[in-house]
Amino acid sequence: MEYKILNIKIEDAIAIVTISRPEAMNALNSLFFKEMDAAIAEISANKNVMVMIITGEGKAFVAGADIAEMVNMNSEEGSNFSRLGQNTFSSLEKMEIPVIGAINGYALGGGLELAMGCDFRIASAKAKFGQPEVSLGMIPGYAATQRLSRLVGIADALYMLLTAEMINANDALRIGLVQKVVEPEELMNEVISLAKKIASKGPKAIKKAKAVTRTGIKMDFDAASELESVEFGSLFGNEGEEGMKAFLEKRPPNW
Ligand code: CAA
Repeated sequence: MEYKILNIKIEDAIAIVTISRPEAMNALNSLFFKEMDAAIAEISANKNVMVMIITGEGKAFVAGADIAEMVNMNSEEGSNFSRLGQNTFSSLEKMEIPVIGAINGYALGGGLELAMGCDFRIASAKAKFGQPEVSLGMIPGYAATQRLSRLVGIADALYMLLTAEMINANDALRIGLVQKVVEPEELMNEVISLAKKIASKGPKAIKKAKAVTRTGIKMDFDAASELESVEFGSLFGNEGEEGMKAFLEKRPPNW
């Protein structure tokens, strides 16, 4: 597919997807979702890729859903536009490989929802986070009402959802919305180095660690623990055998 909004670079088992519509603060429109769905399919089909990174070009990671596209929608169109985004962000969670959000600037509304669809987030010290939808007389549509409370707890989620305040990167770190804050010029180096670290581990183990964690959190604890036992077992006589032998033989593993 020919991409107009996304810029995709694949190098050393890492796919970097940059959202590039800086003149509109990378706001999410229908074309974005079409391209992101295609990028997810393309990257998932590339068996050399072990980690995906999502970032934005310019001042914003993403400043939300495209208000100009939404303004004249009716209820049915609005609900459909919500489902479109929810499906794309769920697809990110369902990817076998980890997805890291490199939050370079504003992550607002749908932008924060996209960031929350990533497996974890590293922020530039300049990044700002918020769910400003109530200022527009709206509520979030790409599952922030659900993901934010699950990530940071209900009180911090409701604080953000009800006040529409923007919080800075350090406050995002404090509430667990991002996992690390780095100087702006260090953002991509840091995220690429984390991606390389992940890509150096057992590839099956990385995919299973994500899948069991993501599937298990939606299940009853005992059933999820049983899922872990089954997947733990599946790595014996397999990649785990090589990893454990390599440890005992004091050599690097040969995945
Ligand atoms: N949709 C469409 N266009 C947007 C946009 C958005 N979400 N955010 C910014 N833009 C556009 C602006 O309209 C402006 O376009 P023009 O140059 O044509 O006027 C351009 O991007 C630059 O923006 P600003 O001039 O506003 O830049 P700034 O530096 O002064 O402010 C900002 C930056 C604080 C991010 C500000 O643009 C802003 O508040 N944006 C809107 C944030 C927002 O409300 N997001 C929630 C959207 S609703 C949503 O996401 C619902 C959902 O959950 C599905």
